[in-house]
Amino acid sequence: DSSSAKPKLARTQGVLWVSSDDGRIKGYDWQVKDDASFQSFLSSHSWTEADVTIVQSNDEQNEFFFPGFIDTHIHAPQYPNLGLFGSKGLLDWLNEYTFPVEASFGSESDPENKDTDPKDTPPEGLRVYDEVVSKTLAHGTTCASYFATIHVPATNALAALCHKHGQRAFVGRVCMDNPDQCPSYYIDQSADEGLNATIRTIDYIQKLDPNGTLINPIVTPRFAPSCSQHSLDSLGKLAASYNPPLWIQTHISENTDEIALVQKLFPESSSYADVYDKAGLLTNRTILAHGVHLTKEEMTLIRERGSKVSHCPASNSALGSGLAPVRFMLDQGVAVGLGTDVAGGYSASILEVARQASLVSRVVQYSAEYQELTGKKTSDGSEKLLVDDVLYLATRGGAAVVDMADDIGGFDKGMIWDAQLIELGAIIPNSTASPLDMATLAGRGVETGSVGNVDLFGNETWQEQIEKWMWSGDDRNVKNVWVQGKLVHTRDE
Ligand code: GUN
Ligand code: FE
Repeated sequence: DSSSAKPKLARTQGVLWVSSDDGRIKGYDWQVKDDASFQSFLSSHSWTEADVTIVQSNDEQNEFFFPGFIDTHIHAPQYPNLGLFGSKGLLDWLNEYTFPVEASFGSESDPENKDTDPKDTPPEGLRVYDEVVSKTLAHGTTCASYFATIHVPATNALAALCHKHGQRAFVGRVCMDNPDQCPSYYIDQSADEGLNATIRTIDYIQKLDPNGTLINPIVTPRFAPSCSQHSLDSLGKLAASYNPPLWIQTHISENTDEIALVQKLFPESSSYADVYDKAGLLTNRTILAHGVHLTKEEMTLIRERGSKVSHCPASNSALGSGLAPVRFMLDQGVAVGLGTDVAGGYSASILEVARQASLVSRVVQYSAEYQELTGKKTSDGSEKLLVDDVLYLATRGGAAVVDMADDIGGFDKGMIWDAQLIELGAIIPNSTASPLDMATLAGRGVETGSVGNVDLFGNETWQEQIEKWMWSGDDRNVKNVWVQGKLVHTRDE
């Protein structure tokens, strides 16, 4: 229960070893702190290098391991639009920025979208997808839930690239068949064509990774306005027809105009969440992005169905969608993780999203909508998400959203080694040299110690080091990344 669990950040030093077999943490020994104890530790164990990988951090450089980040909502094809979102709200932004870039992932030689081969993706599309996967890995994202586009070859290519790079991923072909809400140049020819195309991506992904160890398909109706009732119903049935049922992802209650549109398009439904529920799309394997303006009743329904919410604060602020009441959702028992929502969100970094989640939670108390939802006119401070809380959402919270809380998001024995090695850099030397001399040294390229924006002066507690990292860290601090025990990224030096 993420609402009551108060995470405590504890620094431990020693060695940790990971099975080369299944990539799980086999054990650790916190007594091993120097070379001599490391040598005796090695000789006291019978396993060989083939059985385990021993991972250690360099304390002088203030290195530490952190669970890999989990991005519960990201649009891979929108990556070229990162930082380009203008001043429009959601619905205009989709038409002006989003649909054109997504449409470019289709193949001119396959206007009917009948191909399946990833190689039939336009070369620029392949380049973008390769870049998204390597960039998110470089930011420490070890697991991502991707929206692709309506195109089967490109969606399959994204899955293949995640597999090649070794990133854990859910990959969904986007379904959108409502001609009144989708542009004529970017739409499924019919609900059934969309369904069949979806099945072809599912087949491809399940062949690519038969056990679903790394890559899993995810049924992806874009959002209610894009889809006919028939499409929503058939996608709900499709997901339920698999054993185990397929994952599902979509958007919900991101923007007030969107909510009004859903009311108009689905007059028989009592709420936005009810539209999805009636179609069988609210399951315990459903990820709902945004949920900025959910009512308390909708939160209750979502909790009862076991569905999860992806909180996307960078996007919500960029598109002016609103302030999601995250602590309140957690208190209602809804599982919440973080999502970049590239490219409504302007950054592919979950650390950046963690910052935005904390900032939004510190101002949400001033919104009338929040006061009405919670019945609180004055803040008791409990709505604030502090550093530990947002780092929790970025890791264990996200793990709960993808239903892998026992496997990823933390470093308990037996969990999978999905991890990042963070380097904060050496402490700025307490030099007798005057600051002017130091500047001269730095000007000559002499190491002064800091990595990226993080400056340590040596008087920081462990908690404060983490706070400095959370507020000013970036991919320069991510030295190595592992997924399933395998090294999948090393920072360029
Ligand atoms: N709602 C429907 N499609 C989208 C999308 O691509 N991004 C966001 N943020 N919201 C959506
Ligand atoms: Fe989105």
